Order: sequence, then structure tokens, then C-alpha cells
Amino acid sequence: MEKVTVNAGVGYDILIDKGILDSAGKLIADVIGKRKALVVTDDNVDGYYGERIMHSLSDAGIEAMKVVFPHGEASKSHSTLLKIYEFMAVNGYTRSDFIVALGGGVVGDTAGYAAATYMRGIDFVQIPTTVLSQADSSVGGKTAVNINGGKNLVGAFHQPRLVICDTDTLDTLTPEFFSDGMAEVVKHGMIKSAELFDILSNKDIKANIVEIMKRNVTIKGRVVENDEREKGERMLLNFGHTLAHALEKYYNYTGLTHGSAVAIGMSTFTHIAERRGMCQAGIADKLDALLEKCGLPLTDDAPLHELYTLSLRDKKHLASGMNIVICSDIGKSEVVKMSVDEYAEFLKG
Ligand SMILES: NC(=O)c1ccc[n+]([C@@H]2O[C@H](COP(=O)([O-])OP(=O)(O)OC[C@H]3O[C@@H](n4cnc5c(N)ncnc54)[C@H](O)[C@@H]3O)[C@@H](O)[C@H]2O)c1
Repeated sequence: MEKVTVNAGVGYDILIDKGILDSAGKLIADVIGKRKALVVTDDNVDGYYGERIMHSLSDAGIEAMKVVFPHGEASKSHSTLLKIYEFMAVNGYTRSDFIVALGGGVVGDTAGYAAATYMRGIDFVQIPTTVLSQADSSVGGKTAVNINGGKNLVGAFHQPRLVICDTDTLDTLTPEFFSDGMAEVVKHGMIKSAELFDILSNKDIKANIVEIMKRNVTIKGRVVENDEREKGERMLLNFGHTLAHALEKYYNYTGLTHGSAVAIGMSTFTHIAERRGMCQAGIADKLDALLEKCGLPLTDDAPLHELYTLSLRDKKHLASGMNIVICSDIGKSEVVKMSVDEYAEFLKG
């Protein structure tokens, strides 16, 4: 079993291995004792892994109940939160009990925010079951739900007490969701690790998934340790995301997945940066080859001038400019400050 420690919040371990779901109860008991647990999951994940986690907790002597909500982004809402809070209150959950988030980023973000707010904050454990949640969202303590006014607008920083990644759970993901999550994995290689990029490009990804996840959570964990509240280095994690967010808005959050949008954002900006001499020659083609290997798109037909307008998310950008993440080489990234006019010029290619 691989272990990565993150020194954020009270500090926590990320445990990664094939098949560790059945030992989750014991691993949790070792860290937070045998207090009462609430497992929060979605209906898809419950069908695959709900019974196994409940058995594992009960075998370890942990009393547990379960709340299951419908899968999908629409469940990342205040109405789901209310169901969790009410269930906990009716069933006598106290401040010393804890939540286990079993699922992808939707479950992790929603259950994490429930844990951040129920009785002013209780402990929680992440058991991520998607590529995106294992490589990215389960680490770092960002929790949130959506409101009509926008995605992730209501949330809190609340670090988990433990993260358990069973990479075997990724075997039941659809190929589309597997590819989608790989965009953030490629991003981590681009911004911080030429070695990770090399493994992804030259080795069989599924055969090396434990090693790949270990490297991902190490990168994410180190960035979060240096900048828990996203004031500086954490901005590097936005590589590809400025254009991705604009693309997602352009398509009204339907049709184009987040991972696809990030892939297009990374490729587009790296090609422009290369043409403008802001990075080593040849890296855009290497990036494209890896994105294609992962089943991700490189380009889109949305007009760049419309994406430019959509990129200026709020008036703040007009005054303070844009923070654009550029990789000067594979594994090396920096935040480049641009005025909105410079950004418009940059987008012209
Ligand atoms: N907190 C953060 O730092 C952070 C970072 C990035 C993204 N996010 C959030 O993460 C969310 C997206 O997460 P996601 O991509 O994991 O999507 P998701 O949670 O919706 O999961 C994707 C789909 O796969 C299913 N699923 C999950 N695990 C499975 C498994 N092992 N086998 C079969 N099916 C499975 C789910 O039921 C769902 O239908 C977004 O809401 C995004 O805002 C948060």
C-alpha cells in the first residue's frame, strides 16, 4: 500500500492500493476510532460498492448508516445537503461522529460540505471512486455545492481526516468517465512533473495506476500544503481551466465534459505559448499525443473571441487582469499576469 501525507488541516494520509476498499473500516478505525459513521454515496456507486463498505465498517466495529442520492451534478445541491442534515439529526449524529464520502467528486464535494457545516463541522473521510476524485478532488479540502447562480459558489475549506483510494474501483467506470478524469492527471504532469508525464506517455496507464495516483496526490498535496487557501501556487492547478470554464459556459454546461474542456484549454494555450516563444519548442505536440492517448479532444469550433468575452468572468478582471498559467516546459509552470488587452492579443495566437 502506498501512503502520502498531506500537512494541511490537522494533517492526513492518502492511502492508495488495489482492493483496499474491504479494509477501509480498519484503516478508518485506526485513524479516527470507532465513532458512528454516516456513509454518503450516489446510487451508481452504491450499487457497486455500498454493501462492501458497510460490511467493512461493521467488521471493524464501526456503527454506520447510509444516505444515497441520485448520481449526477444536479445532486450537488442544497436539497441534497438538507436530506443529509435531517437524516443525521433524526438518527442522533453528534459532533463527535463522522461522514464517509464514497464516490466521485459530486459525492466528495457534497458530503464534504455537509461535514464542514453539520454542527459547525465534523470529521470526514474520502473514499474516491473516479479518476478525477482520486487524482484531484478528494485532496485539498475544497468542498462545495452549486446554486442557480453558478457552480461551487457555496462551500468551505474542510480537510478530510483520511483519504482511501482503491484503484480497483476505477475498473467499473465507463470509458468516458475514465478519459474525462485523465485530463487532470495529464495537467499534473504538465505543471509539476516531467516524470509523471513520461510514465503516462510511455507506459500502460491502467497497469501503472497505483504509481500514477501516488504521483498525482503527491503533486496536489504539496501544492495544497504550500497554499491551502488558493492565494498563490494553487493557481497553477488552473492550467487549461481559463479556457475550459469559458468553453463550458459557451455550451451551457451540456455536451462538452469538464475533462474535454480542460484538454482543449491546455492544448490551445500550449500551442499559442509555443508560437509566441513562451515555452520549449515541441511540447505542444507531446501534450497532444498524450491527450489523444487518453481519449481526449484537442480542439473545438467555438469562436475564440466569444470565449474571450466569457473568460472575463467578472469585472475584477477588467481592473486587475488575468492570471494565465503557462507551461514553459513539461513539468514547469508559471502564472503569467496579463491585462485583458494582452489576453485578447494572446488568444489571437
Ligand atoms: N473539490 C475539488 O477540489 C474539486 C476538483 C475538481 C472537480 N470537483 C468537482 O468534482 C465533480 C466531478 O466529479 P467526477 O468527475 O468524479 O464526477 P461524478 O462524481 O459525477 O462521477 C461520475 C459518474 O461516475 C459514477 N461513478 C463514480 N464512481 C464510479 C465507479 N467506481 N464505478 C462506476 N461508476 C462510478 C457516478 O455515479 C457518476 O455517474 C464536479 O462537481 C466538480 O465540480 C471538485
